[in-house]
Amino acid sequence: MTPIRVLTVCLGNICRSPAAQGILQREAELKGLNLSLDSAGTAAYHIGKLPDSRSIETLKQVGIDITEQRARQVTEDDFYVFDWILAMDRANYQKLKQLQPSQSPAKLVMFGEFADYVSLGEVDDPYYGGEEGFTAMRHHLIEIAKRFLDHIASH
Ligand code: 4NP
Repeated sequence: MTPIRVLTVCLGNICRSPAAQGILQREAELKGLNLSLDSAGTAAYHIGKLPDSRSIETLKQVGIDITEQRARQVTEDDFYVFDWILAMDRANYQKLKQLQPSQSPAKLVMFGEFADYVSLGEVDDPYYGGEEGFTAMRHHLIEIAKRFLDHIASH
């Protein structure tokens, strides 16, 4: 089976989207789904960096290692390479919408809309807050990831 190609996108590509990638990888394995995953940021601030240590730590607590990831910026090519591009918040979504070439096949959506009862479709940016924001992000992302995978498994 050819893998479903999924790109998670946030602003810096160091907090939310690397965490979403790691969680989707684990949840897809649990469901026996074949996903090819990557993550990227709409901004260039953190290119080449490891995920934020607080994201690394909160995922380590549930047995997920994201230390292989390095930040990169999203490109126009991504809209031809990936089947799904999953934006973490509305600002990311708007940026991606502007960048998306008109005939490109990728489905661009707000990731949080797969579980919008949690927080109106957005994954809150935990960067400027404390550790509890990263724990909340992890819970939120796990819930959305399960819903998203249910969706692609049934379509
Ligand atoms: P992320 O969080 O978009 O979830 O990776 C942020 C990371 C860095 C910055 C903002 C948000 N920053 O302003 O540097």
